[in-house]
Amino acid sequence: MRHPVLTMEGINKEFPGVKALSDVSFELYPGEVHALMGENGAGKSTLMKILSGVYSPTQGTIRLKGKEVTFGNPLDAQRQGVSIIHQEFNLFSNLTAAENIFIDRPEMVGRFGRIQWSKMYDEAQRLVDSIGGGEIDVRKEVRHLGVHSQQVIEIAKALSFKADVLIMDEPSAALPENEVKKMFDVVNRLRAQGVAIVYVSHRMKEIFEIADKVTVLRDGAKIDTRGIEEVTEQNLIQMMVGKEVGQLYPVREQKHGQEVVLKVEQLSLDSAHRVSFELRKGEILGLFGVPGSGTHTIAERLFGLRRGTGDIIVHGTAVKISSPSQAKAKKIAYVPPDRHRQGIIKPMSIRQNLSLPMLPQLSKYTVLDEARIKEMSGEYMEKLRIKAPSDGQSVDFLSGGNQQKVVIGKWLAANPDILILEEPTRGVDVGAKAEIYNIIHQLAQEGLSILLISSEMPEVIGLSDRILVLYKGTIVHEFAHGEADQEQLLQRASHPLPEGGLL
Ligand SMILES: Nc1ncnc2c1ncn2[C@@H]1O[C@H](COP(=O)(O)OP(=O)(O)OP(=O)(O)O)[C@@H](O)[C@H]1O
Ligand SMILES: [Mg+2]
Repeated sequence: MRHPVLTMEGINKEFPGVKALSDVSFELYPGEVHALMGENGAGKSTLMKILSGVYSPTQGTIRLKGKEVTFGNPLDAQRQGVSIIHQEFNLFSNLTAAENIFIDRPEMVGRFGRIQWSKMYDEAQRLVDSIGGGEIDVRKEVRHLGVHSQQVIEIAKALSFKADVLIMDEPSAALPENEVKKMFDVVNRLRAQGVAIVYVSHRMKEIFEIADKVTVLRDGAKIDTRGIEEVTEQNLIQMMVGKEVGQLYPVREQKHGQEVVLKVEQLSLDSAHRVSFELRKGEILGLFGVPGSGTHTIAERLFGLRRGTGDIIVHGTAVKISSPSQAKAKKIAYVPPDRHRQGIIKPMSIRQNLSLPMLPQLSKYTVLDEARIKEMSGEYMEKLRIKAPSDGQSVDFLSGGNQQKVVIGKWLAANPDILILEEPTRGVDVGAKAEIYNIIHQLAQEGLSILLISSEMPEVIGLSDRILVLYKGTIVHEFAHGEADQEQLLQRASHPLPEGGLL
């Protein structure tokens, strides 16, 4: 019989007003990739933070290689063999990769208090090589490295402590599609070396590709642990949500209008070249391209975060948009892909965040209409199923997916004419995804024009009335509704314009 490398038993965790975990048990064996799944707010991150010494449990025990342990802090946990890679990397961008890996480590300091640079570089390079990162130069500063390489550095840092257990909390969320495969190579190597890996993700496809086992949490309780070959996607969804989930993509009842709400002509700026398109009233227009294709640049341009040449015409009038406030004045709203940097103000409450963009409408004679704000925030909390004790909860304490819902709610509440959505469901669970899709649909039916940018192909295909494909900043193809499948979409997104021009 193999023995578990790690056992968690009877874990409870209470935050003020929230029971985040109740009586959770969890076992981990060497050389297994163990997926941890559950809806937003189910308790995944909290359980992993307890395992890695960030929080201490209110109750419960952790056994590592048979011995009961307590972790005072993350460094303590790392020394004892448990490392975590959080979704946001904790690297110092102005230090080299090697320095990041061995930061503050006594074994790299020589007899006279000098750092042993060559030992450090050699050891760092060896670690990075051992997980397939041979092309990374550890003497380079981290800010010059791509996202995948930064993740490799995080993993190397974890391994420098001889990790028995490595926890990866939504490791693919920050990676472009083509780098996920590289990350899987690293995970496979680690598995082969006997490391036990906990893999937290909302992406079904990945779970079935990489995991050996899966544990599902719901409302802070463990539902079950199963072998991956014992379950289907439907089983997992049911375990997570606690009921059958209906159709993910709503069916479109009526066609969108003909009136052109937004017209973009010959837009050019760094990674976009002479992009022209029209967005009609109530239309959902998908914009798809691989990272760097220009979709993000175009979104930022339309919201006034960047400048460039070309014309933007809103409701038939050429407009100047050189700042977000000018964009907002034209009733353009933007849900950015990176909620942490651009979407929300974390120390503020859910209610305050939701009401931010609509403060002008909510204040009568400069006095805030508190009752209206409360009503509105209650409505959006319910619509988006934001899980929190109340709308007075600080956004800081929300789970990752629930923070994303606040970002979306915030812009929906602003009642725009044109809504640019970029990666609207990143980090969001299936139940909430269906909710968000429904809301997007409903808004389109009501006449809102939506520009949808997403790297999730099923989402673009399932929701869009039309899809424009970008390749290196140029529109190379247009798919009508129902015309595209994933293969064709990817094919178009990875090739230049065919001879003879568009279509
Ligand atoms: N520091 C904290 N203070 C108060 N409540 C917290 C804190 N951290 C988490 N919570 C609450 O505990 C519950 C579990 O959150 P957790 O972050 O573990 O969810 P999760 O499963 O990781 O969700 P997601 O998929 O959205 O990341 C949520 O209700 C969350 O609001
Ligand atoms: Mg989480």
